[in-house]
Amino acid sequence: MSDTDRVLSNFTQQVQEERTYSERPLRVGIIGTGWIAEAHVESYLKQPDVEIVAMADLIPGKAERFARQYGVDCALYPDHKSMLAAEQLDAVSVCTYNTQHAVCTIDALNAGVHVLLEKPMTATVEEAADIMRAEKASGKLLSIGFQPRMDANMQQIKKIVDSGALGQIYYIQTGGGRRRGIPNSTFIEQRTAGLGALGDIGCYSLDMVLNAIGYPRPLTASGYTSSLFGTSTDYQKPEDAKRFDVDDFAAAFIRLEGGIILDFRISWAMHLDTPGDTVILGTKAALRIPSTECWNGSVGGPMKLYHDLAGQQVETLIPIIPEDESGLFDRKIRSFLDAIIFKLPPPVPSSQILYNQAIINAIADSAREGREVAVHIPEV
Ligand SMILES: NC(=O)c1ccc[n+]([C@@H]2O[C@H](COP(=O)([O-])OP(=O)(O)OC[C@H]3O[C@@H](n4cnc5c(N)ncnc54)[C@H](O)[C@@H]3O)[C@@H](O)[C@H]2O)c1
Repeated sequence: MSDTDRVLSNFTQQVQEERTYSERPLRVGIIGTGWIAEAHVESYLKQPDVEIVAMADLIPGKAERFARQYGVDCALYPDHKSMLAAEQLDAVSVCTYNTQHAVCTIDALNAGVHVLLEKPMTATVEEAADIMRAEKASGKLLSIGFQPRMDANMQQIKKIVDSGALGQIYYIQTGGGRRRGIPNSTFIEQRTAGLGALGDIGCYSLDMVLNAIGYPRPLTASGYTSSLFGTSTDYQKPEDAKRFDVDDFAAAFIRLEGGIILDFRISWAMHLDTPGDTVILGTKAALRIPSTECWNGSVGGPMKLYHDLAGQQVETLIPIIPEDESGLFDRKIRSFLDAIIFKLPPPVPSSQILYNQAIINAIADSAREGREVAVHIPEV
């Protein structure tokens, strides 16, 4: 430690976090051992009250290689059904591609297992409603894996809205985009992903603002989607362009209950760095939330509040709170475990994300039909 660090350390408050863990280890299973399962397992391995007892993947040998990579000695299964039938589990992480989210989550809930489900909730809003019915019938905990919710900057947006500083909110512009950032593998086919950029990163943009304003009911959507980059060999390898059958760009105009307009765009690829910052307009002030270049649902820089003070138009800069991605993921996992242990509400409840999913599907329907549609929200 340098002399300067030694002096500064006198002023740093050492906070020892006092916390309680489960008295017996929670028996956790992993469904789908692909890319995002890595982040789940890395976080579970840090928890003192978790034992990863089983993993399942449809691709022969994949779960075995994955378990070996992490030095996890557990039972391995060729699919989620055989795992749920053979194991007594407390919880699972559903880390499959989107079109398998519903079947895996419903089967796990029906087997009496708590579920942490990756985003987006599902490929269709009907599947999301089916999941919620199983959730209700089982009485088990279900949380949807939106780790940006754990970001202190994201929580700041909600605090600002809740403080009333913006007044009555009437217009929101949200979305984000990548100049070039089309993912590969299972993300670019209907069969596995069900949705493209709209579901993959659009769900984050919607959650950023809808969570802040308390998830009002969506009413109508007029949407547009395209796949001009994903299907083009100018931007994709020929084999990827050939199998690409989801959207890589979406835009929409959505009406929410309470007279709020939501103007949305999202992109995996375009000739622009960002389709714009997120903006929330209210009668007392407006908030600008800078976009990031490689949109991943986070806050791209200091936010700015535009308001009047003593007759002057002023701007207040809201400093960025440093966050790292793995810290957010650890909190996503820990908040799920704590909700199980202490019987707390789900950190990201399905009742909110149903609206997120309903908007996404309404945008896709509207784009297909070429007209404004009512947002369909099934009864649960
Ligand atoms: N929260 C985040 O930051 C984040 C980041 C990336 C991906 N994701 C989400 O995570 C999910 C998975 O993404 P990925 O990149 O890991 O995909 P992936 O294709 O790499 O992995 C999915 C795996 O699930 C397996 N699988 C599918 N159905 C199964 C079943 N019934 N039983 C057992 N295994 C099954 C597949 O064989 C595959 O190996 C997607 O929904 C994606 O949107 C979230």
